[in-house]
Amino acid sequence: MTRTLLLLLTLSMMSEAAPPPDVNYDESKVGNLPLPPLLQMADGSVVKDTAGWEKRRAEVMELLTEHLFGRTPEIAGGSKISLISEKADALSGLAHRKIYRVTLPQHPAWKGMEVMLHTPAAAKKPVPVFVGVSFNGNHAVTTDTDLPLSTTWCRESPKEKGAVVEHRYTELSRGIESSRWPLTMILKRGYAVATYYYGDVEPDHEEGWKDSLRAAVSPTGAATVIKPEDWGAIGAWAWGLSRALDVCAQDTAVDATHAACMGHSRLGKTSLWAGAQDTRFSLVISNNSGEGGAAIARRNFGERTARMVQAFPHWFCDAHDAYADNEAAMPYDAHMLIAVQAPRTCYIASAEEDRWADPKGEFLSGLYASQVYALYGKTGVGVKDWPPVNVPVGDSIGYHLRTGLHDVLDYDWQQYLNTADKHWK
Ligand code: GCU
Repeated sequence: MTRTLLLLLTLSMMSEAAPPPDVNYDESKVGNLPLPPLLQMADGSVVKDTAGWEKRRAEVMELLTEHLFGRTPEIAGGSKISLISEKADALSGLAHRKIYRVTLPQHPAWKGMEVMLHTPAAAKKPVPVFVGVSFNGNHAVTTDTDLPLSTTWCRESPKEKGAVVEHRYTELSRGIESSRWPLTMILKRGYAVATYYYGDVEPDHEEGWKDSLRAAVSPTGAATVIKPEDWGAIGAWAWGLSRALDVCAQDTAVDATHAACMGHSRLGKTSLWAGAQDTRFSLVISNNSGEGGAAIARRNFGERTARMVQAFPHWFCDAHDAYADNEAAMPYDAHMLIAVQAPRTCYIASAEEDRWADPKGEFLSGLYASQVYALYGKTGVGVKDWPPVNVPVGDSIGYHLRTGLHDVLDYDWQQYLNTADKHWK
């Protein structure tokens, strides 16, 4: 089967009535537990307290690095932040909007990324911030129509006819992602929002690395993957979230000591990996991240590793390919990706009809990770059973299963805002 065919099949999977034989949606057929232990060191000794967990956490981070996302390289020379435009009355006067450009002076082959920062115009003091990574250029995130269109390569979108022609945006693409970023709602609740377009860091297709940050900083100048644990695109997009946070940290309108990272689906996987590596994020949000994100992979419910590594070979490190049809051999699983966020707040959002992402598997990773939060005297998901729809649960690990499809809806954001209010105010 060609990769394109497989990709099409994979994308149609979420709406398909009768899944193909290798896709299981039957809870009685899930398998391959138990999970790799969280509270046991590689040498077999048992973790009993936070000091022990800090040591175990380093081991777990190494497992996630070597077998899933790959290693984020040290990039020589640091990054440069420049303000490129400013509008004091964006969103009908509600927001002060700034567009920043982040570049790497020692790696000019990378064109850089644009970070769009909205802060509440009426704020009297620095405000906490949601830092997000989007599927489209900033002009598609805001409903304001004055931004130049992003000129970066973009995916064709069958849903929004005419918005993208030959992988470039047209005027019709303005605001196409705005429902996922309810800026007005977030700003009115007193928060800032910073977003950047993942395509600025790496175009999301198999050959996208050639025109990416990964190629620009690669020691060979071209090939990005030399070792099985070299970083994949998700690692690069996660790096972008940290750079967007750098932008917030130097802006006096933002209180970057209270920062959340947020992404949906493949970018939910990205958000979790960004939060794992960059502990400046004090709230880490996974929206419908599924396999390779919050969902326990060895349950084999919905998407499986084999399909993901074939359809999206550029997302993870090459070592991860070894777990195709072999999830039980993974030395890690998604509960570890949640546990490494402790003691910071983590929020996992699922959607009822998003079976491809295994909503129950997303809950279980939070449930199992709760034992690490307990070491810090914190409550994780706070319940033992998968909660019913539209009943948010949890404290330091928040969780909800909302009605509806794979998407980001206002309901999801309301829970993120409530969580931020609770933990930051
Ligand atoms: C595909 C993929 C998922 C991913 C999703 C998305 O469905 O199989 O792993 O989360 O795309 O990013 O929209």
